[in-house]
Amino acid sequence: MADPAKYNVIFVLGGPGAGKGTQCAKIVKEFDFVHLSAGDLLRAERRDPESEYGEEIDEHIKNGSIVPVAITCSLLERGMKQAKEKDDKDYFLVDGFPRNRDNLDGWNAQMSERVNLLTVLLFSCGEDVCVKRCIKRGETSGRADDNLESLKKRIATYNESTKPVIEHYRELSLVSEVPADRSPEEVFEDVKVIIKKIISSS
Ligand code: ADP
Ligand code: C5P
Ligand code: MG
Repeated sequence: MADPAKYNVIFVLGGPGAGKGTQCAKIVKEFDFVHLSAGDLLRAERRDPESEYGEEIDEHIKNGSIVPVAITCSLLERGMKQAKEKDDKDYFLVDGFPRNRDNLDGWNAQMSERVNLLTVLLFSCGEDVCVKRCIKRGETSGRADDNLESLKKRIATYNESTKPVIEHYRELSLVSEVPADRSPEEVFEDVKVIIKKIISSS
């Protein structure tokens, strides 16, 4: 049984452009999950003129490097707390997190006792496909990092820093991997099976 005092969390990982945001939107439409994208929260924080972290976040996003966990984790925690208090939500898709060891350690220190980690949903996708999708997204996204130069750095960060985090969760048998170089609808068919299974056993 799910512990009602805890946040139920699915981490959503995969390379840049693997389709994390696209699949999370589909999950939210069909299941009672709240989608919190770490990247979206950081971009919103960067746009806030009151924020003391704007420049620091800006630099990291352009360089494809990872913002210190204290910033990201507090944004995620705030998002979960608001959804819980306002709408009584208990199930969360935490998209694009944890991206490196610092994210993982910071989350474990700050959140793990209040969180039931359901699974790590991993979208696996070839680098060429990822790059193509992000370049295409860059035509309309207005994102500072959907260009070839930033993408090279983001992919290097994914390979060097995020993959070891995925391996850590693999060793704990917590990874649900979905091949993502197919149509969004085909990918979602697999995702639905995973989510239904998780919900029925949580
Ligand atoms: P991520 O959040 O992993 O960076 P997105 O969901 O934003 O990825 O998808 C990146 C881009 O690729 C978007 O423009 C999206 O519309 C497109 N896209 C997402 N999934 C697929 C797919 N399965 N096939 C083709 N294009 C996709
Ligand atoms: O997930 P998304 O592609 O939106 O992330 C964009 C950028 O936001 C990353 O390349 C990184 O600079 C920053 N980010 C971060 N820490 C996270 C998630 C995103 O620093 N956990
Ligand atoms: Mg995204």
